[in-house]
Amino acid sequence: MTQAQKRSTWASRWTFILATAGSAIGLGNIWKFPYMTGVNGGSAFVLVFLGCILLIGIPLMMCEIMLGRRAQKNPADGMRWLADKAGASPHWKWVGLTGVIAGVLILAFYSVIGGWVIRYILHALNNSFTGADAGLVGQLFNDMLASAPSLLLWHTVFTVMTVWVVARGVNHGLERASQILMPSLFGILLFILAYSVLEGNFGQAMQFMFTPDFSRITPGAALAAMGHAFFSLSLGMGVVMVYGSYLQRHVSIARTSLYIAIADTAVGLLAGLTIFSLVFANQLEPTAGPGLIFQTLPIAFGQMWGGQVVGSLFFLLVAFAAWTSSISLIEPAVAWLTERKYCSRRTGAWLTGFSAWLLGICVVLSFNHWSDVRLLFDLGIFDTLDKLTTNILLPLGGLMMAIFAGWVMRPDHVQDELGLKTVAFRAWRFIIRYVSPIAIVMIFLSLLGLIRV
Ligand code: PFF
Repeated sequence: MTQAQKRSTWASRWTFILATAGSAIGLGNIWKFPYMTGVNGGSAFVLVFLGCILLIGIPLMMCEIMLGRRAQKNPADGMRWLADKAGASPHWKWVGLTGVIAGVLILAFYSVIGGWVIRYILHALNNSFTGADAGLVGQLFNDMLASAPSLLLWHTVFTVMTVWVVARGVNHGLERASQILMPSLFGILLFILAYSVLEGNFGQAMQFMFTPDFSRITPGAALAAMGHAFFSLSLGMGVVMVYGSYLQRHVSIARTSLYIAIADTAVGLLAGLTIFSLVFANQLEPTAGPGLIFQTLPIAFGQMWGGQVVGSLFFLLVAFAAWTSSISLIEPAVAWLTERKYCSRRTGAWLTGFSAWLLGICVVLSFNHWSDVRLLFDLGIFDTLDKLTTNILLPLGGLMMAIFAGWVMRPDHVQDELGLKTVAFRAWRFIIRYVSPIAIVMIFLSLLGLIRV
């Protein structure tokens, strides 16, 4: 029996696209992209982000899928096996193992924010937004943050939902539901965008997000934008690699990567435009930080006709999108634990989920009782986990994978998997050997103050 026959595979190319797009599209697009854009000066951040998607994200997504499908293994064993085939050091397995750890660290805060979204479904259903102004909506948000038991409850609910699906295995997950719910999320975003074009300040939002002003690109903003490109596309920690390892051989990796990246970027931009139209129309601060969507969208839901239904549906669909992302976060860890025969899939899923849940309690407390605790670079607990994973671990993982695919693996093996036309392969290989690694290193160095951006 060949390795490919032994492993489970996706039912079709579409299932893979849905699952990977499901992993990519999540809180990163709807919650994080808008507030990061606001905090990092608007268009400067957006333009670097788009550049990173194009020059680093898409080529690297192809690279990760290629590595996964070639190895037919979880990221840690896969990297080791591929290194062995290329006559390289077995230590390459650390790239995969770091991804396993990064997944748990990300889930720790992801599930807390997922919990906020579930809390907001209830607020919307209870009609709490009707007639609310910025002050009231801000109060609602701050009250939520102040209550550690409530945050803990929703964090727990979200984590259990995540683990429950992963314990049942990738192929039995949420694919069928995704076929309806992801397009619905897109639809409702368009609807809310239409509302904010009519009622909000769309012109100013466009200007804020797209007027090029390169003088505002600081090293910090560039790193945040690059990190977010990784976070948003779920790259650099082996998620896409593990999903790629279940992908059938005949599927075109390039085309699939492009579809996923376009869908992911579109959702982020739509969310950003909607939110900033409302921010500027209601004289709110674009720099509000992680609470931004929770402090702007409810104002619109409170004012629009049928806002109770639209609001509830919106938060429900965002929770669903977050769910399909969070299940992917622990998949590398679970695939590794089970393929190594350390434990069953069910135990592996609960164990990984429990570790993330425990750490998540610290994140919950960082929004109230422990708000003064400072860790790395004088950041709070939530910010430390977020920055450590998004800005360091994911780009570093991506850098190593690019170096591995571009410099360590035999080109004919890579091409065998990618199946590109010669010119396209040469272009991709050039990018993955030079452009992406140099861009990542330059952005890292710019932050250390060694070069100016
Ligand atoms: N891409 C997800 C989002 O944008 O919400 C988050 C994420 C999932 C990041 C999986 C990393 C990952 F491996």
